[in-house]
Amino acid sequence: MYKAIRILAAAALSLPLFVAAQSSNVNLPQDKGPDKVDVSKYPAEQQKGYKVFVDKCAKCHTIARPINTTMTAPEWSRYVKRMMHKPNSGISDAQGKTIYEFLAYDQENRKEKNIKAFFPSLSDEEIEKLKASQH
Ligand code: HEC
Repeated sequence: MYKAIRILAAAALSLPLFVAAQSSNVNLPQDKGPDKVDVSKYPAEQQKGYKVFVDKCAKCHTIARPINTTMTAPEWSRYVKRMMHKPNSGISDAQGKTIYEFLAYDQENRKEKNIKAFFPSLSDEEIEKLKASQH
């Protein structure tokens, strides 16, 4: 009985560390932009996709990050897979496909129309530099 409580307490104490290890520990410029997309005029399928996107892509960093990043559709395809393969991403293949389809539509119909308002994605080296400067 007491042993079980001790194990539970130890697990609870190590949880924040575990969560921190999974989450992004850097602020990218795009994180400070808007954290919503007005999808009221999007097709019904993309409106459903938006919900999956908001639900799944805000686990480790703010949803503002992908909302304010521009990439081409093939880059989004690769990027969603990359995010899915991060430990504990919790994104299934089917959800990844839905999210990719939303991002590709949103890229073409929102971001492309005002491309200068958005941030191109950073390279891993640029992210590492930012991390070093923020710590
Ligand atoms: C398991 C944690 C996790 C999940 C879930 C996750 N991300 Fe990320 N994301 C990261 C990490 C880590 C980085 C790299 C930068 C950093 O360390 O903050 C990142 C970076 C990004 C970037 C910045 C790209 C750049 O180079 O500027 C975008 C865009 C992005 N993620 C989109 C998404 C999308 C879209 C989803 C949902 C499909 C998603 N993320 C889900 C952890 C995650």
